[in-house]
Amino acid sequence: MTSKVRRNLLWLGGALVLALALAACGKDLPMNTFDPAGPTAQSEKDILIVPLVISGIVFLLVEGGIVFLAVKYRHRRGRDRMPKQLHGNTRLEIGWTIAPTVLLAVVFVPAVSLIWQLAERPPDAMQITVQGYQWWWGFEYMDADMKVSYGDPPGPITTADVLVIPAQTTIDLSLVSMGGGAHDDEGNTDHMVIHSFWAPRLFGKQDVVPGASGLDNHIVFSADEPGTYYGQCAEFCGLQHGMMKFRIVALDATAWQTWVLHHKEPAAKATSGLAAQGMDLFLGTNGEGGQCIACHEVGGMTGVNTNAPNLTDFADATHECFAGCDFEVWNPDGSPNEEALKAWLRDPSAVKLGAKMPNYHLTEDEINALVAYLYSLS
Ligand code: CUA
Repeated sequence: MTSKVRRNLLWLGGALVLALALAACGKDLPMNTFDPAGPTAQSEKDILIVPLVISGIVFLLVEGGIVFLAVKYRHRRGRDRMPKQLHGNTRLEIGWTIAPTVLLAVVFVPAVSLIWQLAERPPDAMQITVQGYQWWWGFEYMDADMKVSYGDPPGPITTADVLVIPAQTTIDLSLVSMGGGAHDDEGNTDHMVIHSFWAPRLFGKQDVVPGASGLDNHIVFSADEPGTYYGQCAEFCGLQHGMMKFRIVALDATAWQTWVLHHKEPAAKATSGLAAQGMDLFLGTNGEGGQCIACHEVGGMTGVNTNAPNLTDFADATHECFAGCDFEVWNPDGSPNEEALKAWLRDPSAVKLGAKMPNYHLTEDEINALVAYLYSLS
């Protein structure tokens, strides 16, 4: 290899490394662990930085040493094949035993104490249960003052795909996996798998385990500012694991009050037009259709049902996405994203392979009516 070719290759390599490094500085990173938006994520980032810096320095020293020695002691004409050999150096050996021990302690002690600290559950925190289904997330607000105004007894406010919280408020999430959503004849849920709940700007990953013991897993966190925070499942849980997403919408105090009052109310009732036709179809009130309510609940209009996402407030402004947040409910200009919902109703598995919602072979008229009904649920 001529020295010119070698120099060109070095430049090319350097440019590639620089390009990769700069690519990591992109602006639009909604799931950036290094951009925390609450105290839990902040403390996790702080604890991550220490080993990252230490291991970075160790990496440079070790790799640099290897390269240095490989170059310095490379074979040259006229040089002995075997350089002078060393055997044992007590001081060095003691040194490289003590140094890693000290480094390990520096990483280990604060990390373990943070684990205990984050596991603390403040008694006045807002209690929300997170349910992992295949492949979407459900949320139930468990506090006594978060019950809906209908039903006997009234159940908790329930949402799907988007977890709405008040900003600057400590939230205590209880995590449980609910399987595939469908039940067998004995009421057992199918496909009991482990998920993991993760919104990098607010908190790190925590496993979501099936069964009552699953509720022992908690995440305590808060969001500093109102805004939308992105999250996703972080434990392989089947075909659509990669598309099991969610959002956390944090509201200011006023918007939160309004949201709560509104979500206690039963669903809006469609009284005329296409939406009313869709409602009849959805509820099966005219003797046709009605399969929707076999799995979906529409607050006050159907029985309690957690087999599929709760649709009571499907068209609420905070309900930004549906079906595991794979699809946007609203277009960027704020208009209803009817095309996505129509495609979903036409054949769920065609747009989300393996989706648990069956293809009901709806006609285009039926789809239009159902879309009108769902967008009337605001
Ligand atoms: Cu749920 Cu991966």
